[in-house]
Amino acid sequence: MTLHCSVFIATSLDGYIARDDGSIDWLEAANATVPPGEDCGYADFMASVDALVMGSGTFEKVLSFADWPYGEKPVWVVSRTLTHIPAHLPAQVRLLHGTPGEITSLAQQQGYKRLYIDGGKLIQSFLQDGLVTELTVTTIPVLLGSGRALFGRLARDVKLGLVASRSYSFGFVQSTYQVIRNTPESTPTPPTAAPTPPAHTPQ
Ligand SMILES: NC(=O)c1ccc[n+]([C@@H]2O[C@H](COP(=O)([O-])OP(=O)(O)OC[C@H]3O[C@@H](n4cnc5c(N)ncnc54)[C@H](OP(=O)(O)O)[C@@H]3O)[C@@H](O)[C@H]2O)c1
Repeated sequence: MTLHCSVFIATSLDGYIARDDGSIDWLEAANATVPPGEDCGYADFMASVDALVMGSGTFEKVLSFADWPYGEKPVWVVSRTLTHIPAHLPAQVRLLHGTPGEITSLAQQQGYKRLYIDGGKLIQSFLQDGLVTELTVTTIPVLLGSGRALFGRLARDVKLGLVASRSYSFGFVQSTYQVIRNTPESTPTPPTAAPTPPAHTPQ
């Protein structure tokens, strides 16, 4: 069974998801300019995922909101240092200590088909381990100059295919990319002197 790990995130034009101190005032100010009823596809995306996996940095920010925003949706908080989830949160919120590979294995055991990966560092570690399937990035027309980056160092290039891109009248630009897997089929084969018949040809 295939598990899809999707990213759905907003960044400044210079690639930051939060200021250095974690604040997202610039994003909240931008969201305040969005016409009522427009959510840039967020509700549909949330409805399409079985669970949300977030780094502890994102969890910390979400805890500062007045209300828990994810309802009964399973949320897995990934941390090496947190010891517990506050008791007032829904029972579907779980604390995990694991690598991206261990987390995706657990999701597959649960029968999940699509995970929402959230938080810059966590997204980077899933990308590094080749486990992100799709990214939807909404670019907010602001430059922050510094902050917490969406992307970071990679051991190798991650090739992407553009699935869709749209601009909104209020200045956001949203692009969805599929990660192109480095499979043998996508790697060009060197020419050979005598071409061999395709594998599916009856012999
Ligand atoms: N612009 C947006 O749409 C958007 C979306 C999401 C979040 N944000 C903002 O981004 C900030 C959080 O992002 P962030 O990049 O600082 O942190 P993050 O990815 O949410 O969390 C990172 C932390 O998770 C823990 N962790 C456990 N396993 C990990 C692994 N395999 N890889 C990476 N981290 C792992 C580590 O802390 P411990 O092990 O010590 O717990 C790590 O420091 C918040 O300010 C939030 O508001 C913005």
